[in-house]
Amino acid sequence: MAEKIIIFDTTLRDGEQSPGASLNVYEKVEIARQLERMKVDVIEAGFPVSSPTQFEAVQRIADQSTVTIAGLCRAVEKDILVASDALKNAKKKRIHTFSSTSDIHILGKFGDSRYGVSLDEKRQTVLKMSVDAVKYAKTFTQDVEYSAEDAGRTDIGYLCDVIEAVIAAGATTVNIPDTTGYCMPLEFGAKIAELKRRVKNIDQAVISVHCHNDLGLAVANSLSAISNGARQVECTINGIGERAGNASMEEIVMALKVRKDLWAFYTDIISEEISNSSKMVSGFTGMIIQPNKAIVGDNAFAHESGIHQDGMLKNRDTYEIMKPEDVGITHNRIVLGRHSGRHGLVARMKALGYELSPAELDEIYEKFLVIADRKKEVYDEDLRVLMGEEVQKQYEEQYYQLDYLQVTLGTSIIPTATVRVKAKDKIIQESSVGDGPVDAAYKAVERALKIHVNIENYQVRSVTGGRDAVGEVIIRIRDAGKAFTGKGNSTDIVEASVRAFLNALNHKKQFEKDRLVQTDNIWQENPVRFV
Ligand code: KIV
Ligand code: ZN
Repeated sequence: MAEKIIIFDTTLRDGEQSPGASLNVYEKVEIARQLERMKVDVIEAGFPVSSPTQFEAVQRIADQSTVTIAGLCRAVEKDILVASDALKNAKKKRIHTFSSTSDIHILGKFGDSRYGVSLDEKRQTVLKMSVDAVKYAKTFTQDVEYSAEDAGRTDIGYLCDVIEAVIAAGATTVNIPDTTGYCMPLEFGAKIAELKRRVKNIDQAVISVHCHNDLGLAVANSLSAISNGARQVECTINGIGERAGNASMEEIVMALKVRKDLWAFYTDIISEEISNSSKMVSGFTGMIIQPNKAIVGDNAFAHESGIHQDGMLKNRDTYEIMKPEDVGITHNRIVLGRHSGRHGLVARMKALGYELSPAELDEIYEKFLVIADRKKEVYDEDLRVLMGEEVQKQYEEQYYQLDYLQVTLGTSIIPTATVRVKAKDKIIQESSVGDGPVDAAYKAVERALKIHVNIENYQVRSVTGGRDAVGEVIIRIRDAGKAFTGKGNSTDIVEASVRAFLNALNHKKQFEKDRLVQTDNIWQENPVRFV
């Protein structure tokens, strides 16, 4: 009998920790809907205590979902209390509490002597915090997950002690994260096998794994863990996440599906929804998928060489181990035009995973008609861009808006730009020359707002093929160590560039506002409340 692997999706929590990948509340709600549609078992919706925006996102997702919604908390009373509040209306809720268990983390984070003087005393403090946190979380829900952060580098004897203690305290899922992506597949699988052997109450909890991709092994480690006893995997769409990211959900799901001859496991994921989910996450986060990314990259099913193409024409199985349709990629492109009407638009949006409120439909339909007039044919990619713009406009405060842009350029003149920016209730106009039209426009914006911005990354691409394609610009700016992404679209790429710039500045403003209302900076708070 095949056994089920529980899919715990952390795109909205760990995935959102990717540099610059902040999502607004509405984008999170939309992604959560899509995750539910593809039938993930658990959605980790955020880290409620960390900011008002995180709290609101977890709360809204908990209010509307029918799958299990998890909220992350440190092993700290306040975090658990706040998470339980955010989750209070969830039909199925899980409190996910964690503490570091590796010596490197314990010595680094619990260096102060109030946590104990020797390493052994500090380890006992962490064990007690973990047990107390699980017991406290149990007062809010039966479904409690405990994570031993940096388990991949934790002494196995101590890890066994902690896991046994938290299960005795009531943890129903015990998560073994390879937080730094350090482990090798054989080694990581062996750790899971050893935990199964040595922890005497291990059968009372589900073993989960949470692998990071620093050495490119997150999926391999997750699969190795499954073959040694793990029954839950934590993963993200497109593998986004801290640093090199987390294990990619689509790769794990398809590995189990394609090789079901090899192992008797299954997931409930509707694999045909993978492509929609991947595009939605990429569009909202602004994290472009590398073309050769397994399963969801543009080239994942492209056959270039003559020999391959010939083989494919004779029999698809020669070079294809799964069909594009299995992950929701279809080659019969559905194209809309101005005669498609509102029903046609709603149906296509739904097929792409977006649900439109009547107000959104009105707005988007107007814009759709403009595009349909200009381009004649409107593709799925254009609709995704429309949706992304709508979400930004309605749900993010627009501190800065582009009012006017004029650019002069040519082969024998110095590029010059004039911009007029609405900054709250003020309108400011400035001009500048620059090293090309985009540079001139960015300098004019900087002058207008009296700022200097460190642009870390700038990318431009066309959303669809053809000369009349919409150009999309994605930029990442950095300020005081924090990255902010901005997106902008237009058939004019200088305009798209300015829109992306202002969008990144709006994200920075939102972050600053969030930080101001945050009463409590979680990383500075004393992390030991139970001791
Ligand atoms: O990587 C990690 O250890 C985590 C935990 C909080 C589960 O994200
Ligand atoms: Zn993680």
